[in-house]
Amino acid sequence: MSQERLAALLSEKRSYMPPVHGKSSAWISGEEECEAVCRRALEDPEDFWGARASQLLHWFKRWNHVLVADEAQHKYRWFTGAKLNASFNCIDRHLITGRRNKAALIWQGEREMDVRCYTYQMLYTEVCRVAHALSSLRIRRGDHVALYMPMIPELAIAMLACARIGAIHTTIFSGYAEGGVRSRIQDSKARIVITADAAVRAGKNKPLKANLDPILEKCPSVAHVVVVDHAHMDDVSMKPNRDIWWHDLIDDFTLNSDFPCEIMDANDTLFLLHTSGSTGKPTGVMHSTGGYLTYAAHTTQWCFDMHDDDVYWCTADMGWITGHTYGIYGPLALGATTLMFEGVPVWPKPDRYWNIVEKFRVNILYTAPTVIRSLMRLGEAWTERYDLSSLRILGSVGEPINPEAWHWYHKHVGDRQLPIVDTWWQTETGGAMISPMPYATKLKPGSAARPLPGIDAAVLGAAEHDGEEGKEVGRLVIRKPWPGMMLGVFNDEGKYRSYFSRFGCYESGDGAQVDEDGYFWILGRIDDSINVSGHRLSTVEIEAALTSCPEVAEAAVVPMPHDLKGEAIYAYITPREDVPWSEDLRAKLRDAVRRDIGPLASPERIQFVSAMPKTSSGKIIRRMLRKIAADAEDTGDTTSLANPEVIAEIIRGHNNLMRGKAENAPTENP
Ligand code: WTA
Repeated sequence: MSQERLAALLSEKRSYMPPVHGKSSAWISGEEECEAVCRRALEDPEDFWGARASQLLHWFKRWNHVLVADEAQHKYRWFTGAKLNASFNCIDRHLITGRRNKAALIWQGEREMDVRCYTYQMLYTEVCRVAHALSSLRIRRGDHVALYMPMIPELAIAMLACARIGAIHTTIFSGYAEGGVRSRIQDSKARIVITADAAVRAGKNKPLKANLDPILEKCPSVAHVVVVDHAHMDDVSMKPNRDIWWHDLIDDFTLNSDFPCEIMDANDTLFLLHTSGSTGKPTGVMHSTGGYLTYAAHTTQWCFDMHDDDVYWCTADMGWITGHTYGIYGPLALGATTLMFEGVPVWPKPDRYWNIVEKFRVNILYTAPTVIRSLMRLGEAWTERYDLSSLRILGSVGEPINPEAWHWYHKHVGDRQLPIVDTWWQTETGGAMISPMPYATKLKPGSAARPLPGIDAAVLGAAEHDGEEGKEVGRLVIRKPWPGMMLGVFNDEGKYRSYFSRFGCYESGDGAQVDEDGYFWILGRIDDSINVSGHRLSTVEIEAALTSCPEVAEAAVVPMPHDLKGEAIYAYITPREDVPWSEDLRAKLRDAVRRDIGPLASPERIQFVSAMPKTSSGKIIRRMLRKIAADAEDTGDTTSLANPEVIAEIIRGHNNLMRGKAENAPTENP
């Protein structure tokens, strides 16, 4: 984040009181109640979480202990001995209440006319059919199923069918390209991959099955591929005995084929979801059934003040944790109506979101700052055309929201009246951790406000990050366990332990500051991750994709501030000797990243340098490269460098590049 933006963020002094209208029926109403709940939850966490788990979920068998903690190993097991099933909680138990014929899932396809709606009863039928189908392919409790699918109802159905069987799903974002998909399938050793012929994006078909085929040659664990005929492509190649069309597979199971739920242990893994870590390999975060689902339902109810008649829309793709927790598991566990949208906000026109809000009378909208910034740039005319008066609560997630975007969202979407819940959390935390409560918390634009009840967040130690002057920037940690925290890292105990190695409690990898009111200001990642448009990417993975090109001797990837994306990728490249610094090479490098990881990771800028700044032991000092990419005036102390002379050359190259010239162009006299 640039110094300028940070200064703007931290000098933002305006605050907004929670709305009065709606307060009397809110789950948490007013500051006093909120503080009392927070106090109680920290004083007696086990009592608090036990009560929430009883209120929110159906348990086949109650727990022996709310929490069993092995502090030495940092292993925390919630609701030990308890039995439940996530699919039962998200569907079956609503069938015996007045919710049976309520819309559970409303799907809006990319084309305006493509709408599908599933009541809880219909969802039950579909999920049972798919559970039977997976079972016929010999998928059993504990098996892994990979889902490489677009935002279509079949994705939600497949997730719930896996949960019903006790199979562990791993969704893979449909925007990932070869390397990203391969590493996730290989890591999870999935026996089945469910995909579609193609995803539909901005009027174009983006093939998924064809993308998958070459990858599968290197994934021996995969016995079958199930393909949804979504885009109706003509030339989908299907390998005999391995590939099966979704419709053919489920056709064999009659409509009234109940599939009894597997009785799962609270600490059985519900799903695996990979996130970018500090190594070249994605981190397979495992979430539990009981703790995760409790935490998902709990935060959905309180952060969004969810009530039975709300239509709730979380715009995140199901390939990310936000889609899991707030698109599916949280809202369905509560018996709510969740909306799913396949398209993009600006296609065919930048009014898609507002059109959907009006069409379905959406009450709660949860989206990302990058979306707000891109819509803000296109002007208010698009929001003004629609009746957005059904909206009651707005949410934001994925990256710090800059006050300018916050105010635009507040004014043009929320008519200056609606609360904005800026929720800070991570794949590893399962659900929101630091967030306002809509009818209880005074809002400060740009701050995620205070930790939620039972969450003991703190800022510890010093971190190298630019913050408000005179105030220490530290590392954001969580000192006490909470039910949504990950069970572990799949097949990587060392990686799991590394989260606890510095402070003996969970370290998030984010830098933060706390102000005099106890409000948290998140400053972004301080590890080797970059947050592009709210998506976490690993610098190490991108560097590996770049150095796989034979022309490259060394690569160093750092974040640069970006108006729309929040952060973008800036790559420094030292080409091998005799390789010319050409535009062709730049294009080739971008293409390599796009093909390996996906378009999301494509570098915004590529700067050629003759050498990287290094310590005498040969380690690249990324800190200085980060400052240069961010246009910082001062690159910091260069005395630790073995080759300080390269800094001036890199700065000159950067300045030339930003003026649209070649790096090694002669410097003009000012
Ligand atoms: C960032 C997404 C500031 C943060 C739920 C975190 C945020 C990373 C916020 C996790 C927010 C998420 N304000 N930063 N409200 N929400 N982040 O695992 O850097 O995809 O560590 O989970 O996103 O990204 P992940």
